[in-house]
Amino acid sequence: MKKGSFVSVADLSKEDIIRLMKKTESFETNPNQKLLEGKVCATLFFEPSTRTRLSFETAINRLGGRVIGFSDASTTSSSKGETLKDTIKMVSNYADLIIMRHHLEGAARYASEITDIPIINAGDGANQHPSQTMLDLYSIYKTQGKLENLTITMVGDLKYGRTVHSLLVGMSHFQPQFKFIAPEELKLPDIYKQFLEENKIPFQEYTEFSEDVINQSDVLYMTRVQRERFTDLIEYEKVKNVYILKNCMLNNSRDNLRILHPLPRVNEIAYDVDDNPKAYYFEQAKNGVFARQAIISDVLGII
Ligand code: CP
Repeated sequence: MKKGSFVSVADLSKEDIIRLMKKTESFETNPNQKLLEGKVCATLFFEPSTRTRLSFETAINRLGGRVIGFSDASTTSSSKGETLKDTIKMVSNYADLIIMRHHLEGAARYASEITDIPIINAGDGANQHPSQTMLDLYSIYKTQGKLENLTITMVGDLKYGRTVHSLLVGMSHFQPQFKFIAPEELKLPDIYKQFLEENKIPFQEYTEFSEDVINQSDVLYMTRVQRERFTDLIEYEKVKNVYILKNCMLNNSRDNLRILHPLPRVNEIAYDVDDNPKAYYFEQAKNGVFARQAIISDVLGII
């Protein structure tokens, strides 16, 4: 994947992932490296974001690059009817790299096909969030000391949760076992189950969020119910608080268990979990800066 766009985890080989993880580690050791001097990076966020946009922009600043862009598409000419194609073509005249988040699945892939500058997908609808996967993999590696042979339990909105979809593809290189906990309405889509079956990756599905499953896990990956993807908010109301992790549920969990969450959280992790040493979600978000430094330098072919 050297020098090119970063659109989907499915485009990455195991070697790509390991190379990016090593780069991430080096940026964590030394985050202030002026590798982007003279480069302009555009962050185009057609959907809201806190962590992804700000950590990408921090990554660019720490690398000595400059940032242009928007965090609210209603202030841009897309609100006057300008197409995504024209927006990408215009911004390609100004920047060396585009980092974009869009509500349409496939938007980043489409953008990568109409411009010669690299596109980084910062989330496309319910499809993919590949830079989140790199920081998730790095967080798992840091906390477990390995990526191989781990039991990962994913909880919550597995239907619309793009971080879930990306992460299971990224982990597929490392012989994982998955446990999926979701209500019927938010179960993992069949396409991802087929992917796991084709790759001979074992998984079990549950509707009950039980301590028994938590106690068999190395990583507990909590997710928010994605209100913005529901067309019927009554359906959202039915499932929004379906699973809430409380500190008392961790009493018999494995010593190495770590709780991850891409954030933002709404109600799915009680605040009493935050002080548990097994809670890792805030450090996980911090790792996003280093992982994104690695991705940016990689797509620009900077050694
Ligand atoms: N994890 C994540 O994508 O967070 P933001 O929506 O705040 O960017």
